[in-house]
Amino acid sequence: MNFLWTILFVSFQIVFSSYTPKTDPTIADFKIWIKEHEKAYKSQEFDEKFKTFVNNHKLVEMLNQYYQGKTEFKLNKFADMTPEEFSDKVLMKPMKNVINKDPKKLFAPIANANIPTSFDWRDYGAVTPVKDQGTVGTCWAHSAAQNLEGAYKLKGNPLTNISVEQIVDCDGTSKPSTAQSDCGVFGGWPFLAFQYIQRQGGIAKESDYPYCAGTSKNCFPCPAPGYNKSLCGPAVPYCRLSDSCQAKLDPSKFIPNLKVIDWNQTSLNETDISAQLMTIGPLSVALNAQKLQFYHKGIFDPISCDPKELNHAVLMVGWGVENKKPYWTIKNSWGVHWGEKGYFRILKDKGKCGINTQVVSAILA
Ligand SMILES: *[C@@H]1O[C@H](CO)[C@@H](O)[C@H](O)[C@H]1NC(C)=O
Ligand SMILES: *[C@@H]1O[C@H](CO)[C@@H](O)[C@H](O)[C@H]1NC(C)=O
Ligand SMILES: *[C@@H]1O[C@H](CO)[C@@H](O)[C@H](O)[C@H]1NC(C)=O
Ligand SMILES: *[C@@H]1O[C@H](CO)[C@@H](O)[C@H](O)[C@H]1NC(C)=O
Repeated sequence: MNFLWTILFVSFQIVFSSYTPKTDPTIADFKIWIKEHEKAYKSQEFDEKFKTFVNNHKLVEMLNQYYQGKTEFKLNKFADMTPEEFSDKVLMKPMKNVINKDPKKLFAPIANANIPTSFDWRDYGAVTPVKDQGTVGTCWAHSAAQNLEGAYKLKGNPLTNISVEQIVDCDGTSKPSTAQSDCGVFGGWPFLAFQYIQRQGGIAKESDYPYCAGTSKNCFPCPAPGYNKSLCGPAVPYCRLSDSCQAKLDPSKFIPNLKVIDWNQTSLNETDISAQLMTIGPLSVALNAQKLQFYHKGIFDPISCDPKELNHAVLMVGWGVENKKPYWTIKNSWGVHWGEKGYFRILKDKGKCGINTQVVSAILA
């Protein structure tokens, strides 16, 4: 073969090896998935859902061939949602990433930090079990509550599940100068949630103010006081006062000795973020999670992932290195059966998907 043919041959191989369709799943395969994930559809939805399932199967195969085992994807519990439905229901509407430039809000740099090659707050009992937000955009409230769980534990208190629902129901904080706002089931920002908890004077335990927004508990909270329609969009069409902040909030039940006095942010430098994580505890972070729908395991490293379009908030708990690739270990709120037992790992030190751009923590008294 001459040189030109070699090149052509090689490039064809690249094109063709990028996707070889395997057989589509059958209705019987879909029914097995339905049973496993305890789904129930109205009869008129079934065909549409099956079509989505087949398309997602193709997508998952394509991703798995492309990443060659470095990251694995699978038909998980989101397999009946198109990527658009996943965005609408599970993620927050993309929020313009406003990088904080206020030096007064940056954690003081840690000089001469001795940073190990791996670290994990789970090894220190500072992380509660993985939660499931359901198909509503309450990730930001989960992220904020879980940051507080770590901070509270590191103050010498017992590890405690902190109420996510109180934040969802009661926090309508907004920052009009940057068009950022907490919008209940439609998304929000952990740093604004910390401001709310500071103003409110405390927060309840999960058991005293349990999560219900994304569950099947028949719960319809009204928008939080201060809910900003011009920033959040129209409120939920139906709500019940008895399910809302006004009826449920009980300051006499606030967790003792948990007082938020401020919040700070880290720099964008991922080496500095490691040092801060070790010192402060698990950190609230945000990212562009569009490509995370079918993540199963490995180091998440999507080719295109705009760091300016954030749509998901999570909890950074540690880091490590695998096959020479550095990664962050992140706790998600999509249940324990998603990803690596509810967690995922994302490439570190490359600003991947904006993971280093909204790194915040509450500061406790
Ligand atoms: C928060 O940031 C400010 C400004 O950099 C700093 O003075 C303060 O020490 C920080 N708080 C903590 C707990 O590091
Ligand atoms: C927190 O809640 C989970 C259930 O989501 C439960 O298994 C766990 O025991 C609770 N308490 C702590 C301290 O993690
Ligand atoms: C709601 O957002 C709009 C638009 O940014 C702003 O002008 C207004 O002051 C906000 N209202 C409140 C109560 O924060
Ligand atoms: C990040 O900070 C570390 C140490 O603090 C420094 O060595 C490194 O050059 C910084 N990286 C970037 C991209 O600025």
